[in-house]
Amino acid sequence: MKLADRVNKIQPSPTLAIDAKAKALKAQGVDVVGFGAGEPDFDTPENIREAGKKAIDAGFTRYMPVGGADDLKDAIIAKMKRDHGLEYTRDEISVACGAKHTLYNISQALIQEGDEVIIPGPYWVSYPDQVVLAGGTPVFIMTDESTGFKITPEQLEKAITPKTRYLILNSPCNPTGSTYSKEELAALGNVLLKHEQVLVVADDIYERLIYDGLTFYTIAQVVPELKSRTIVVNGVSKTYAMTGWRIGYACGPKELMAAMTKMQSQSTSNATSIAQKASVEALNGSQDAVAAMCVEFEKRRTYIVDRLNAMPGVSCFKSNGAFYVFPNFSGVYGKTTPAGKKIENSSDFAAYLLEDAKVALVPGVAFGDDRYARLSYAISMENIKKGMDRIEEAIKNLK
Ligand SMILES: Cc1ncc(COP(=O)(O)O)c(C=O)c1O
Repeated sequence: MKLADRVNKIQPSPTLAIDAKAKALKAQGVDVVGFGAGEPDFDTPENIREAGKKAIDAGFTRYMPVGGADDLKDAIIAKMKRDHGLEYTRDEISVACGAKHTLYNISQALIQEGDEVIIPGPYWVSYPDQVVLAGGTPVFIMTDESTGFKITPEQLEKAITPKTRYLILNSPCNPTGSTYSKEELAALGNVLLKHEQVLVVADDIYERLIYDGLTFYTIAQVVPELKSRTIVVNGVSKTYAMTGWRIGYACGPKELMAAMTKMQSQSTSNATSIAQKASVEALNGSQDAVAAMCVEFEKRRTYIVDRLNAMPGVSCFKSNGAFYVFPNFSGVYGKTTPAGKKIENSSDFAAYLLEDAKVALVPGVAFGDDRYARLSYAISMENIKKGMDRIEEAIKNLK
């Protein structure tokens, strides 16, 4: 069949593909340890589930305003004020079917053919492809452990051109887990202040999953002068273990929110009515479950980083957010597997681990740097231990 060219311009999400492969092997009875997951292994908290059930029974099952129900918008407004001291009105909020969909709407509403979007790397897999789908050009600023996987003001200054439409800032970051401090955001903000045409998309989806006593800041809170050209993107997926409910949102200039809502009115219409009610409870209700989840994630992060750093040829930056580590495995490249295959890159290494050790992780090449791989610690401690033992053994078996 003849398909539109745009289909061939992008890749299917590699993270979802790895996760699906691990799940399929598990379904066949293979004992796979899957470090590919991009979602918490906890259940959606009970109060939120109950709110969803109540919404069904109350008949809250019909079409909704495209850009989100007023009570959800009000809960988002209250959250932005409470957590970040940022004030928004209802027409400055747009609710979509997940943060991914929100980011897609932003790219479709903002990017003209040939516009550039600055993406710090290693980056979340969907950013570049969404930009390409909208006719834009991703401009990468690559980082590594030497700056804690964070871009510097100098790098940002160099990357900005007259064609730059926006910068995507993702903190805490998928895949590196790195988190920008208040001072670092202020320094980046100072660069952005000099370039009035550049907007900032702050993808704050992991904001609550932060460790080592750090405090989360979003750039519009640190540099208030930037608020009028910042779009905050967030959602309930990661914080409240609600990945399947599909609710995400943006807070930003009302012209843009109206444009995104207009585009959405011709695609998905509103996000699910029931999930919107559950999200009101997530944002307004008890936050105890989030705190408990963070305690568990932090323990796992520390364990996994220590184990990886003890393996020969592996070094792992101790990140302090999200639920990912991004170890550098390039020290094992050049070695040969027991079956006689040379490991040349992150894809070879991931394939070797899946075949020989029954461990699934996502090769770093998917995130823009082939030296690394991403491991999610959103799996039980027991499985993390088992997986670490297997990786250690698999590395020992390389010649
Ligand atoms: C950095 C980042 N942004 C956005 C999303 C999208 O989240 P959702 O569409 O589930 O709200 C993800 C999910 O993996 C992510 O890692």
